[in-house]
Amino acid sequence: MMATLVNFKIDGKEYLAEEGTFILAAAKDNGVYIPSLCNFEGIKPKGSCRMCTVRVNGNLMTACTTRVFDRMEIVNMSDELEELRRGIVELMLTEGNHFCPSCEKSGFCELQALAYRYRISSPRFPYLSPDRPVESKNPKIMKDQNRCILCKRCIRAIKDENGKSLFAFKNRGYQVVISIDTELAGGISDELAQKAMDICPVGAILKKRNGFKVPIGERPFDKVEIGSEVGTMS
Ligand code: FES
Repeated sequence: MMATLVNFKIDGKEYLAEEGTFILAAAKDNGVYIPSLCNFEGIKPKGSCRMCTVRVNGNLMTACTTRVFDRMEIVNMSDELEELRRGIVELMLTEGNHFCPSCEKSGFCELQALAYRYRISSPRFPYLSPDRPVESKNPKIMKDQNRCILCKRCIRAIKDENGKSLFAFKNRGYQVVISIDTELAGGISDELAQKAMDICPVGAILKKRNGFKVPIGERPFDKVEIGSEVGTMS
């Protein structure tokens, strides 16, 4: 069956996409970058970080969870939206403890790359400097809660052969942390451990004995700005 194509606009330019495609994916397919963080291609979108907020026919919506429809008018690059996204990055940077120079994910980290994009050298909000644990009981992976931004990518993507997630949210509100299922993750394979590390947008999940294989300066975001692979940048 032929897919139905819909016509939509981003920042006044017309594009086509298959009906039902999420705005973020439809934009990417058309070479338009919408900043995002919790979204990851191939896993169910959650809309938790709000980085991809756009205006859809005047209303604020998350591009990762909203599907395109015919004659939809989207605003992506406006001062208002970029300021909002910048604020989200600043809040994340101050809410946790992010020491980029000592992090194995530096240069791979999407939060750091977004901080570069928004030219954030010193966030305008006070650092909360929370006291959070590092967990390294698992033989293959370690988890540093200080860097976790609660995007749920690991929960959504890292599962055993029965579809059970190796990660989960524990506690509520300000106390929420990612917990690792000791039993399920006890025998985690090298491949899944690597996938967990790769899917984490920050440095909260690291594969042990993996340090600095790619030298600093040679890492993706050391060289190119986040989103530049998609196409149109602001
Ligand atoms: Fe859409 Fe996080 S990327 S809400």
